[in-house]
Amino acid sequence: MPAFTHHIFICSNQRSPGHRRGCCDPDGGQLLRSAFKIEIKQRGLAPLVRANNAGCLEQCEHGPTVVIYPQGIFYGNVTEADVPRIIEETVVNGRILEDLLIADDCLNNPNCEHIQARKSDS
Ligand code: FES
Ligand SMILES: [Zn+2]
Repeated sequence: MPAFTHHIFICSNQRSPGHRRGCCDPDGGQLLRSAFKIEIKQRGLAPLVRANNAGCLEQCEHGPTVVIYPQGIFYGNVTEADVPRIIEETVVNGRILEDLLIADDCLNNPNCEHIQARKSDS
């Protein structure tokens, strides 16, 4: 059996209300992951496309965050409404959704403007 063509990790991390960094799933409902699972199933993409819960992906200030491997595509501020087009455009058609892509300048950069803005808020 081949490896997954797209292994989607959805941050489901929870932090206490008011935490300085926020979190990707404040209600703990894992609704985003459920939306991916439903879409993958409806489109018959399993088992080679898979959606899993993840802990913090260290992109909290750009969350809710999703990463797709092995492509290494990080999407931020993802909502349930974005899930069908992520599956259609990125997974099926191989296109990057620029409006969701976490910029290179932001990815793993502790000095990015969003992290700095949150620090100055607290
Ligand atoms: S809480 Fe989701 S990336 Fe940190
Ligand atoms: Zn940023």
